[in-house]
Order: sequence, then C-alpha cells, then structure tokens
Amino acid sequence: VNRRLMAPDISALKGDRPIVALTSYHAHTAAIADKYCDMLLVGDSLGMVMHGYETTLPVTMDMMVVHGRAVVRGAKRALVVVDMPFGTYEESPSVAFRNCAHVMKQTDCGAVKLEGGRRMAETIRYLVDRGIPVMAHVGLTPQSINVLGGFKTQGRTRAEWAAIEEDARVVTEAGAFSVLLEAIAAPLAARITASIPVPTIGIGASSACDGQILVMEDMLGLSPRVPKFVKKFGAVATAIEDAIKSYAEDVGSRRFPEEQHAYGMKEPEGAPSAA
Ligand code: KIV
Ligand code: NA
Repeated sequence: VNRRLMAPDISALKGDRPIVALTSYHAHTAAIADKYCDMLLVGDSLGMVMHGYETTLPVTMDMMVVHGRAVVRGAKRALVVVDMPFGTYEESPSVAFRNCAHVMKQTDCGAVKLEGGRRMAETIRYLVDRGIPVMAHVGLTPQSINVLGGFKTQGRTRAEWAAIEEDARVVTEAGAFSVLLEAIAAPLAARITASIPVPTIGIGASSACDGQILVMEDMLGLSPRVPKFVKKFGAVATAIEDAIKSYAEDVGSRRFPEEQHAYGMKEPEGAPSAA
C-alpha cells in the first residue's frame, strides 16, 4: 500500500508473511526503521531506555505524547502504536477511553497498546467500538512487576497455560487487532498463534509468532544489559564510545576544530572598522 499502514492492514498480514516491528522513541531512528518495519511501537520501555527508570511504572502520558509525536513525524509508512502507561487505563473503560483518545489526538498515532488479558477485555471492546484500535499485551506484563515479583518468563509449566491462552482468546474476541506475547515459553506461543485469528507479535516468545518486536536500543547494542531473548544486530554503544573518545582527544589536543569547521569574514581581513 502507498499510504501509512493501519491496524487492519497489520491484522491482514497474518498467514501472509512475518510482521516486522521495533520500538521507537525518536524521529531520526523512526525514519530509518520506517523503511523496514510494518509497525513502530512507542513503548513505555522508554521510561527505562530514555529516562533511566528501573521499571516502566513512573512513565506518564505526557512522556508518551512527546515521544509519540516525534515518532509519528519521523515515520511515514509504518503503523505507529503508542503504549498506555501504568495507571491511565486500568480503572474503567471510560477513563481508558478519555486517556487513549487524548494520546491519539495529541500524537496522531494509529493505535494504542495496553497490558492485560481477561481483565482488560471489556475495556478493549469499549475502545474499539469507539474508534480506537487496540493491541493487547499478554504473558509477561512489566507494569505488573510488583505483583509478579520480577521480570519472569511466563507459561513454563503447563499449569500456567490455560490462563494465558484464555487471555489471548478473550482480548481477540474483544476486538484487539493484534496480541503482543512477551516472554512466554515457545510451545505456548505456538499454541496461541495457531488458535487466534489476529497476528501475535512476539518478544521472547519464539519464532512461532506471526511477527517479532525488539526494543530498538537492545538490538542495536546500545543498552548495557539485555534479556536472553535479545539478539544484538549492532554494536552502537561501542560506536558511540569510540566517537566520543576521539572527539575528546581532538578537542584536548586542538586537532578539532580545523579551518573547514570555522567561519571566515565577509570583509577583507585587516580593514579597520569605521567605528
Ligand atoms: O514497552 C515496550 O517496549 C514493550 C515491549 C514488549 C515491546 O511493550
Ligand atoms: Na510496554
């Protein structure tokens, strides 16, 4: 298609080809990722990656709006999905609608994502019925870290499967256009992917998913610590450090700036000024 992708375009890719997604928080990297990705997620992981928090819990709607706008401006073709932060959607469908509509109006994003399965189904239905495409997020839900007791892989015993499968099924029935599966055992991801009609996008959820997503800074090799499921496709931290080290050396030894980096005068040199 020759326009920006919309939520139904993403849904339609299931069974056709793998869906490529990345997180994105700022305009220049969004413009690069836009050439290769179907979907860019302005994840609330930006609280950890961009702002140095330990968890995603302190993230605010204002932060999501600032970064969401930047990504929508930077990307021309990919669907931009913005995460709803902790505390902005759980209370009730109407509170969720008010806050999701605010984020959509302020950023011009094409969809929102929220964490939770069965407990969010009524809200997802309410939002979709009122014009807001919703991506659901089940498995490991980092906004619940204080209840879960850590960033723990889900569904590694069969006893856990039924609840997670039910989560994925119910959010799909509620109208979610896609379901993000985070950190779940591979055979469970395969079962869910085979049983729901909308695409699963996996992060730490095996190749069985209909698409994949990673946090951009993690796959670029910029983040200092990454989970087991991350493959580093670049070494950006090393590239940045090398460049900053060279800059410091050149400034320290006056090798930078050179003549080509400086401005000359418009007037001939040596002519005394009238004043
Ligand atoms: O915030 C985020 O980066 C996410 C990931 C699971 C992609 O939600
Ligand atoms: Na998130």
